[in-house]
Amino acid sequence: MATINKNYDKLQGAYLFSEIAKHTKDFIEKNPGVKLVRLGIGDTTQPLTPSVIKGLKEGVKKLASKKTYTGYGNAQGDVRLRTSLVDFYKKRNIDLSIDEIFISDGAKSDSANIQSIFGIDNMVAVADPVYTVYVDSNVIAGRTGGFKDGKYEGLVYMECNEENGFIPSPPKEKVDIIYVCSPNNPTGAVATKAQLKVFVDYALKNKAVIIFDAAYVEYISDDSLPKSIYEIEGAKKCAIEINSFSKWAGFTGVRLGFTIVPMDLVAEGTEKGKINSLWARRQNTMFNGASNISTEGALAVLSNTGQKENKKIITYYMSNAKLIKESLSKLGFKVFGGEHAPYVWVKTPNNLTSFEFFHKLLKEAYVVVTPGSGFGPQGEGYIRLSAFGDKKDIQKAMKSIKDNLKL
Ligand SMILES: Cc1ncc(COP(=O)(O)O)c(C=O)c1O
Repeated sequence: MATINKNYDKLQGAYLFSEIAKHTKDFIEKNPGVKLVRLGIGDTTQPLTPSVIKGLKEGVKKLASKKTYTGYGNAQGDVRLRTSLVDFYKKRNIDLSIDEIFISDGAKSDSANIQSIFGIDNMVAVADPVYTVYVDSNVIAGRTGGFKDGKYEGLVYMECNEENGFIPSPPKEKVDIIYVCSPNNPTGAVATKAQLKVFVDYALKNKAVIIFDAAYVEYISDDSLPKSIYEIEGAKKCAIEINSFSKWAGFTGVRLGFTIVPMDLVAEGTEKGKINSLWARRQNTMFNGASNISTEGALAVLSNTGQKENKKIITYYMSNAKLIKESLSKLGFKVFGGEHAPYVWVKTPNNLTSFEFFHKLLKEAYVVVTPGSGFGPQGEGYIRLSAFGDKKDIQKAMKSIKDNLKL
């Protein structure tokens, strides 16, 4: 008789966003006619830019002719796209080779799958609060025990709080894999070079591997802040970087991301290049390459025009973040993030729990947010607002909170 992977039973509740969607749906059913403003899920809303549309159309056009049609491509990703990324990183003074870059269908799958090339007995550390995929993928793999007192046994939580500006310190104990996300989802905090260096130094000292999620680096507006872990000396020996065109260029539906596994990266008992070859093998076995249409779109994102156009959209989203931050600060809320990330992290008033405040905002102001507790125990007492909406909606939400929320 077939048995199931019982690790799935350890997972907590539904995926956070499904749970929010359920509460929101219930509210709409009970209150027909009410128009909600959704600042919950971090999904982009602005249309793709003209040059990206042109690139995607080019991809479709190629498929229409026998001469230019392509089927399965290079499983590691189109060489033109990987070369473009090498050039892109080169401008940031980071030298990569195309063999170190793996194109994928997005950062979510890569950040969930990357753990599979590491031993099951590796000790894993995550920030708390955290993008839940890092935790859940390790739970499913069987690297943790059960869920007890708000935490998974066997997982190391690096606390993010007001005192440390939501940038954690590396664990006190020795761990093997550390997930770092900067700029951060959900807190909107961004690590300085000095703060990332502490992680790189820790990893080099303890022979640990850092999984660096760079999905929001294009939102950094201060050039002194690191846009890649490889800006830190020694990081190529100890870090994998995952990135995505989702938030950079509105590809949440188009789907395209990439992962960098440096040749210099080593783990216990491995030679240089081994981890790179494991990820190549994993992708070759379980992934058949990214969409050729999306690839043409990504090439357009990396063109000079594409970069300029997408910068404008990022500026637009960040002006939304500023609006949220300023409006809520004026109302007396304690507000964090939103300067180099499209997320604003807000302390709940009157010691309300995250879910209590989520419901209050839904019922009184008709605004949907994300309860911080869904990202980990330290997220309790906070909510996350996404700046990816339309400016008019953000203005409407802020006005409604000001006029209708009973504090
Ligand atoms: C930190 C982080 N990493 C990865 C992703 C997923 O990106 P993708 O759309 O490329 O799968 C998200 C999406 O919200 C995210 O917040």
